[in-house]
Amino acid sequence: MQFPVTRMRRLRRTEAMRSLTRETFLQPSQFIYPLFICPGEGVRKPISSMPGVFNLSIDEALKEAAECASLGIGGLLLFGLPESKDPEGSGAYADDGIAQRALRALKADSSLRSLVMIADTCLCEYTSHGHCGPLTGNGNDCTVDNDATLPLLAKTAVSQARAGADIIAPSDMMDGRVAAIREALDEAGFTETPIMSYAAKFASAFYGPFREAADSTPQMGDRRGYQMAGGNVREAMREIELDVAEGADMLLAKPAGPYLDVIRATRERFDLPLGAYQVSGEYSMLHAAFERGWLDKDRAMMESLLAIRRAGADFIVTYFAKEASQRLR
Ligand code: PBG
Repeated sequence: MQFPVTRMRRLRRTEAMRSLTRETFLQPSQFIYPLFICPGEGVRKPISSMPGVFNLSIDEALKEAAECASLGIGGLLLFGLPESKDPEGSGAYADDGIAQRALRALKADSSLRSLVMIADTCLCEYTSHGHCGPLTGNGNDCTVDNDATLPLLAKTAVSQARAGADIIAPSDMMDGRVAAIREALDEAGFTETPIMSYAAKFASAFYGPFREAADSTPQMGDRRGYQMAGGNVREAMREIELDVAEGADMLLAKPAGPYLDVIRATRERFDLPLGAYQVSGEYSMLHAAFERGWLDKDRAMMESLLAIRRAGADFIVTYFAKEASQRLR
């Protein structure tokens, strides 16, 4: 009788053996937790399509941040929901804007020093029309005016750095924004503040629940005029090349799960630290299945995160950051 010479099962026999041969790890320090900061005090408003995620006033955000720090989470990604919006998104670069005030409060608390504070730099949460910058054209023919948006993004980045942001993360997909932001940061004395570019951001249906959370659904037109088409991976590489040439220090791929091949291609081609954003729709979709009892929560959550790391991401922006960190304890 002929025995198999190679038996893969030999190394899978015990947990100790599996642990020794594990190739990919998850750690709380690799997770970044997004926070949606809103005006007011004592506000903890649930986002209906994202169970467990809230709009938080600054005092509540401080509590949430303390929990994240105690879990060993790597950082926070801050989104601001302003009191009022206008066509230029001026709330994004106001020195007393909601994100700036939140950054100051978070940075003033020395017990939160283990958290890297990352500012999402985009105008869409602040514009009355929900697009990522001021518009040209009318109705459904409107589009974001690229070159008019650049100085506003640069102003936003500088005001966020001034408020204490450790990293500036532009998520708008305007051409030339990394260079514009780098120049403005340097001129304002923030030569040491890194830029994490959402370099290849796809126009995705999976941002749906976020737009409820941030109240940033475009009022007319859509984002396909500036975000990337789902099928294009070579174009993604060109986008990333440009951002690297313009001075990006780190890259962020988005969405994550449905675009694992893009993460892999980016990892193979570029040596910058690479993060991936497991976006709102990825979270909501899994939660819907958990609620119905169709998927095992702990296992499916960890598997979805492991896949993103295996594809080549160094760190993950995820709404599961707290639960996954608890699970890893
Ligand atoms: C834009 C921005 C978006 C997300 C992060 N930054 C929304 C968009 O492009 O419409 C989506 C994140 C998510 O879905 O969790 N500032």
